Amino acid sequence: MKLPTIAFAITASFLASSVTLRAETVVLTADAMVDVETGRLVSDPVITIVDGEITDVSRGEAAVAEGDTVINLTGMTILPGLIDMHVHLTGKATDQGYRRLQISHERAAITGVVNAKKTLMAGFTTARNVGAPSFSDVALRDAIAEGDVPGPRLYVSGPSIGITGGHCSDNNLLPEEYGLVGEGVADGPWAVRAKVRRNIKYDVDLIKTCSTGGVLSKGTKVGAPQYTLEELTALVEEAHSHGRKVASHAHGTEGILNAIKAGADTIEHSSFIDDEGIRLAKEKGTFLSMDIYNTEYILGEGEKAGILQESLDKERVVGTRQRDSFRRAHEAGVKMVFGSDAGVYPHGDNANQLSRMVRFGMTEAQALRAATFNAADALGQKGNIGVIAPGASADIIAVAGNPLSEIGLLEDVRFVMKQGAIYKSD
Ligand code: ARG
Repeated sequence: MKLPTIAFAITASFLASSVTLRAETVVLTADAMVDVETGRLVSDPVITIVDGEITDVSRGEAAVAEGDTVINLTGMTILPGLIDMHVHLTGKATDQGYRRLQISHERAAITGVVNAKKTLMAGFTTARNVGAPSFSDVALRDAIAEGDVPGPRLYVSGPSIGITGGHCSDNNLLPEEYGLVGEGVADGPWAVRAKVRRNIKYDVDLIKTCSTGGVLSKGTKVGAPQYTLEELTALVEEAHSHGRKVASHAHGTEGILNAIKAGADTIEHSSFIDDEGIRLAKEKGTFLSMDIYNTEYILGEGEKAGILQESLDKERVVGTRQRDSFRRAHEAGVKMVFGSDAGVYPHGDNANQLSRMVRFGMTEAQALRAATFNAADALGQKGNIGVIAPGASADIIAVAGNPLSEIGLLEDVRFVMKQGAIYKSD
């Protein structure tokens, strides 16, 4: 029986960031759906959602009961809400280098509120914040979860933990007499463990560390390891014993190897990964998160944003190698997740990286899988997010066409639902 449907246009009444759609049952249909697990396009999907959770996925004619809300996304392809594994919501792309010194933690927290909304509206229903001033990202996560402000479901690290003068911890911008030491600075296994415990005490979801220098930090070398294997092993052991995963920033070959050997769950950037690193990552199931769009923004807009000259020089070397490494690691079959480093580039433009992932070796389906299914796996959330399947949260986005042949469509997401609530419906 064909039951009455509510035209899609009227779902606009459910819109607005603060409104949670908690109709008992919502039936959502579209022209097609991307099955991110198999990489195939499925026609005429019918998704049943009860209290924000997907309870049924079928095809063809929708079976609608009295009182159900029906959403027909005619002309649209749906897919699971995207997941960005590397963002800095509390940072702005336009505030780099010495400008950062003027920004208080409180101001950064407000920036986070603005950027969380932009990220969600761009189709990212989940994001992992890797490094924030103090516990501003913990507060943001909770405010979003409690429905005070709109944003993606967040997994947050709080302050990054790193060596004295390191990429993760110190900013090295001021001379010694200012006495500035980053809040995440710790040297030696026990000091490192203490910092991990402190972050966990204040309720972080994961630990972010740095096992090499970085591009944007003053005076650090991307090729130089930061932390010894002993320190990294202590950090990972401590984090894992409390059920927290570890994300390690690493550009240089040796620091990547150290982080993988220590048991880090994801390697961020992974720019100079060698064959040994690729082999070990495969063996240990380590995920690589490679921000290959970043370089375009840094070299194009970075100077205006205040990025230091030395960082621009480093970027010219790192960017090219990173793209090559991306292709090699992917071809070798290493597990890859989508991580953009938004915050270095503008929040809301996160999806721009998908087309670069295709340009540098992935199929459209593989790029989408990295941003959904694989990312959920790396978060320990397989089945809960990153798929449109019974038992998963109703995190669903839609684009106007087939993203498996036109990945750029993800830069123009038309519909965003998170946990059954509609946040965007163009
Ligand atoms: N946050 C990173 C760093 O400072 C950005 C690296 C950007 N460059 C790149 N090619 N991905 O090291």
